[in-house]
Amino acid sequence: MKNEKHPIFNNPNHIQLAAADLHRGDCLAVIPGLPGQFDAIVTDPPYSSGGQSKGNRARSTGQKYLNSGTSLYPDFMGDTKDQRSYLHWSALWMALCYDKLADGGLMIVFSDWRQLPVTTDAIQSAGFTWRGVGVWDKTGGSRPYKGGFRAQTEFFCWGSKGSLKGEKYSPGLFRVPPLAGGKYHQVGKPLPLMEELVAACGQRILDPFMGSGTTGVAALGQGKEFTGIEVCEHYFKVAVDRLQEAK
Ligand SMILES: C[S@@+](CC[C@H](N)C(=O)[O-])C[C@H]1O[C@@H](n2cnc3c(N)ncnc32)[C@H](O)[C@@H]1O
Repeated sequence: MKNEKHPIFNNPNHIQLAAADLHRGDCLAVIPGLPGQFDAIVTDPPYSSGGQSKGNRARSTGQKYLNSGTSLYPDFMGDTKDQRSYLHWSALWMALCYDKLADGGLMIVFSDWRQLPVTTDAIQSAGFTWRGVGVWDKTGGSRPYKGGFRAQTEFFCWGSKGSLKGEKYSPGLFRVPPLAGGKYHQVGKPLPLMEELVAACGQRILDPFMGSGTTGVAALGQGKEFTGIEVCEHYFKVAVDRLQEAK
């Protein structure tokens, strides 16, 4: 937080900027009250992975996702579900998003390899037409795997509400190295990756798990409108600061 004029002091849970509407809270509670319809949902939920067993999954996000286990960045929330509860929970928030998406709008949800099957199940359970899986190729900057294969890819499951309305032809694979320095979030996505995805979307974009607001920075940079939700106070404030500068 930069100074006492920061808008967070006026209303801690809802910040309205010129082209960004930012909410702090659980997206299950916030999404139903959002006004109007969106042209796309672009989001990166907590994958609840980083471990094959219950004990592994329940570790802090820093221990799960960072090589050192410690970080300059605080842990984030909502990352301890097993696959059954992840599927159930995903279908809940996705159904709320479905209700807020315009006909023909795009749904784009990140996943790692562990949650990929249940994420594609959830998209369909929520009512979307599942249309494919795109690939984020993290290139050589990703984690090596002794005796196995480098953990080089994450995925985005995508679909639409009914027939697609967009006109653009977009690639299905993006080669972008993961963030080394310049991070805003423990597991923040690189801005160039989010810019590619946002470019495929219409004007009004919702990210119900905005973290540090990378989707929003990409949206505002392309003259689009952004609505973001984040439950953690720390990352909400980071997103507000970033989007204030981006506007
Ligand atoms: C993987 S991170 C998103 C990172 C983001 N893409 C970025 O570049 O900064 C997921 C975020 O969702 C937040 N979150 C978890 N459960 C939530 C919920 N129920 N509602 C809203 N946000 C939630 C976490 O605190 C976390 O910051």
